Amino acid sequence: MSAPAPAPPPLLEVRDLELSIGGLHILRGISFDVAEGEFFTVIGPNGAGKTSLLNVISRIYRPTSGTVSFDGRSLLEAKRTALADLGIARTFQNLALFEHMDVMDNVVLGRQRLMRSGVLSGAVWWGRARREETIARQACEPLIDLMGLGDYLSRPIRDLPYGIKKRIELARALAVEPRLLLLDEPAAGMNDEETDELAEWILVAKRELDLTIVMIEHDMGLVTRLGDRSLVLDFGTTITIESPRAAISDPRVIAAYLGDESEEVDDPTVTGTIALKIPKRLAKKGARR
Ligand SMILES: Nc1ncnc2c1ncn2[C@@H]1O[C@H](COP(=O)(O)OP(=O)(O)OP(=O)(O)O)[C@@H](O)[C@H]1O
Ligand SMILES: [Mg+2]
Repeated sequence: MSAPAPAPPPLLEVRDLELSIGGLHILRGISFDVAEGEFFTVIGPNGAGKTSLLNVISRIYRPTSGTVSFDGRSLLEAKRTALADLGIARTFQNLALFEHMDVMDNVVLGRQRLMRSGVLSGAVWWGRARREETIARQACEPLIDLMGLGDYLSRPIRDLPYGIKKRIELARALAVEPRLLLLDEPAAGMNDEETDELAEWILVAKRELDLTIVMIEHDMGLVTRLGDRSLVLDFGTTITIESPRAAISDPRVIAAYLGDESEEVDDPTVTGTIALKIPKRLAKKGARR
């Protein structure tokens, strides 16, 4: 009998990550793997270190120590500008679109790494830059269709509803043609309906484009619906890595979210709710202390 095939190496491998900035110890001994095709989520109260972790992976912050590997290569030796070439794209916690530009202009910015003359020189509109600009726009059309943005093409970004803007931001990250997509609170500021809709678009993108996703999110409904596993951070340390459903019922996770408030809960019905699920009121805003 032949031996079982060895497990494939993880796409993203984070080991013993420490991050200090200005004397503040932000991340402490963080280690985790993300498998190719996995939907990995990062949760935890406000200030837990979630965005800082994403900032280390996307080379915005240099860790004090530890390693980050992507597809077997050290990311910490790669230039930040090379991340897109490696196949990593991200969105930001706060909406980061160019409001005066239209949908296509914003999405096509994601393809800058694939254009030798760049989008800005493309704006000059002649020679090679013009040809590249045309090719980039054509290449973005299927993506705009995939993300259901075709109806908004001619509308200035600033006039569009918030949920559509967040979807445009997602499309711009997808224009990088990433293997690994990093999402920082994609549902922040959205109502339940917008969040449900966004969840569908994220799933479409993941399925159609074979993505591996690392998503930070406070909306526990979204995390349990989409995520395969959750890394829970609190004060820069790992509380647990487990399935999202297990995580939201884990007393250590609930205590982290409730902070000092947990001592104030003496109504047994309220305590029962908390033991089952982090109350939405707290989870939405990532409450703590
Ligand atoms: N550049 C920086 N300089 C100083 N402190 C920082 C810096 N970046 C992050 N921090 C601090 O590190 C801690 C973690 O911040 P981070 O933004 O990573 O938290 P978070 O988990 O993303 O929180 P939230 O849910 O509110 O977005 C906070 O105390 C924050 O003030
Ligand atoms: Mg954050």
